[in-house]
Amino acid sequence: MVIEWNNKYNLGISEIDNQHKKLVKIISKLDACSKKNCEHKQIEIVFNQLLDFALEHFSTEEKYFDKFNYNNKKEHKKEHNSFKKKILGIKQKYLEEGNCSCQELIAYLSDWVDNHLVNEDSKYVDCFKKHGLK
Ligand SMILES: [Fe+2]
Ligand SMILES: [Fe+2]
Repeated sequence: MVIEWNNKYNLGISEIDNQHKKLVKIISKLDACSKKNCEHKQIEIVFNQLLDFALEHFSTEEKYFDKFNYNNKKEHKKEHNSFKKKILGIKQKYLEEGNCSCQELIAYLSDWVDNHLVNEDSKYVDCFKKHGLK
């Protein structure tokens, strides 16, 4: 099932929350697109948006990890890297075979939001806030 924004995803740090909301929007765009058998071009656009999101968002979080010397950064970066690998893998498969594993992708992304944000991102909130982010 496709994910929707829920207040439990709010971390209370506006820059990060806005980026997370962007991801949820991309997922719902992909869901709408897959339901009406959309064109290749549109799916490619969604893949690129996802990769742009990953680049922008992960580098934002990781920049603060380094700046604030966040103690769980190694584990956290690992999850970011596996996200990027997964998306690149599905995109590659799509480019080679011409059909999108859209449902698999939507399920993966929804699961990511529900797990990574709640279990992993939430852990840095105290550290980021202590250093003045809001
Ligand atoms: Fe995040
Ligand atoms: Fe993260």
